[in-house]
Amino acid sequence: MRSVVLVLLALGLVQSRAPNYDESRVPDYELPDPLVLMDGTPVEDAATWRSRRRPEILELFEEHVYGRTPSRRLEARYVETSSDESALQGTATRKEVTVFFTERDDGPFMNVLVYIPNARSGPVPAFVGLNFYGNASIHPDPNITLPTGWMRAGDEFGVVGNRATEATRGVRAHRWPVERIVERGYALAPIYYGDLDPDFDDGFANGVHPLFYEEGQSRPAADEWGSVGAWAWGLSRALDYLESAPEIDPERVAVMGHSRLGKAALWAGAQDERFALVVSNESGCGGAALSRRRYGETIEDINNGFPHWFCTNFKRYNGHEDRLPVDQHMLVALIAPRPVYIASAQEDRWADPHGEFLSARHASAVYELLGTDGLAAAEMPAVEKPVSSTIGYHMRRGGHDVTAYDWERFLDFADRHLR
Ligand code: GCU
Repeated sequence: MRSVVLVLLALGLVQSRAPNYDESRVPDYELPDPLVLMDGTPVEDAATWRSRRRPEILELFEEHVYGRTPSRRLEARYVETSSDESALQGTATRKEVTVFFTERDDGPFMNVLVYIPNARSGPVPAFVGLNFYGNASIHPDPNITLPTGWMRAGDEFGVVGNRATEATRGVRAHRWPVERIVERGYALAPIYYGDLDPDFDDGFANGVHPLFYEEGQSRPAADEWGSVGAWAWGLSRALDYLESAPEIDPERVAVMGHSRLGKAALWAGAQDERFALVVSNESGCGGAALSRRRYGETIEDINNGFPHWFCTNFKRYNGHEDRLPVDQHMLVALIAPRPVYIASAQEDRWADPHGEFLSARHASAVYELLGTDGLAAAEMPAVEKPVSSTIGYHMRRGGHDVTAYDWERFLDFADRHLR
């Protein structure tokens, strides 16, 4: 029997370890202190945080977790491909803009869909966010352009042969309450994440990575970006475009993401301080959840399941979370003092709701040092009792998804901080 299991293990056919969902089996762990420099010096004032500790932590996440994002700027071109001032029953203007990253028309490029409230007296705040099944999946509107590139298989989403079809229209509408977002005075700018990097392990031959290869390079080095890094980069490029859109207030752009795209939203918000507010929905391992808890998905699970998401160096920490010089509370701290909202779902144990709360909790010291109220809760709040402070948090009932409840809280939070 034992040898059968060993053979199956070697073949990768059985999981080596069932996920831990038992709080009493969370190992003892010690978190790195966001307010102590690597050389042991305590960080006692905002200036030291800003000039020394923040850059140090950012560098550690680049080196060990997400990989470095190229700093070279591309000359992007913006081409408006459609515009309708009477979208959503006349309440919104809908535009589509293709952002070409090079002079080539065959890509890579990303399509940004923008809904702008017509009831506005000046530039409006906006949410930007990536989606899983293309911009046309977020609303049944037949005028939204279908993506033509690779798409994750999903019969129930109308994806055929890894391509979107007419049947993908509106399949994710419940996750994007466009009418409600517009009614509350926000623009919304969704982008298909596959435009930036198709989500499969192809050795980084497709997507935006090759745009940055040096002569002779064919894949990112061990400390260079993976797919999460590319998705986060795309969010910043969307913000570049929004800065040029007169209807949008570039100082009030929030970045929002769910699950793997919540990881990307946090990483985008950590690196790019132009994002005024960050929302992580159930981002879990490699997102808001503390890795050292090893509750639900672990670093080993994520690196095995999705070898292309993080940098190669991150694999060193499979089973060795304690050796990481950072944990995910420090990712949240990189966003300080800007408002960040972390949302969990009670049944989404794979993403470790308690670990997501604890990241918020342990980032609070940095927020407080910078003069904000941080997270106004010492203990995990009851289900659907949102905590609203500069770090916001809720755990809603139900499973892994983005619901109307989640969006109402994000909009309440944005009203408090961006109005
Ligand atoms: C998988 C993965 C998670 C990820 C999720 C998603 O469950 O293990 O890390 O967040 O997919 O993106 O939906």
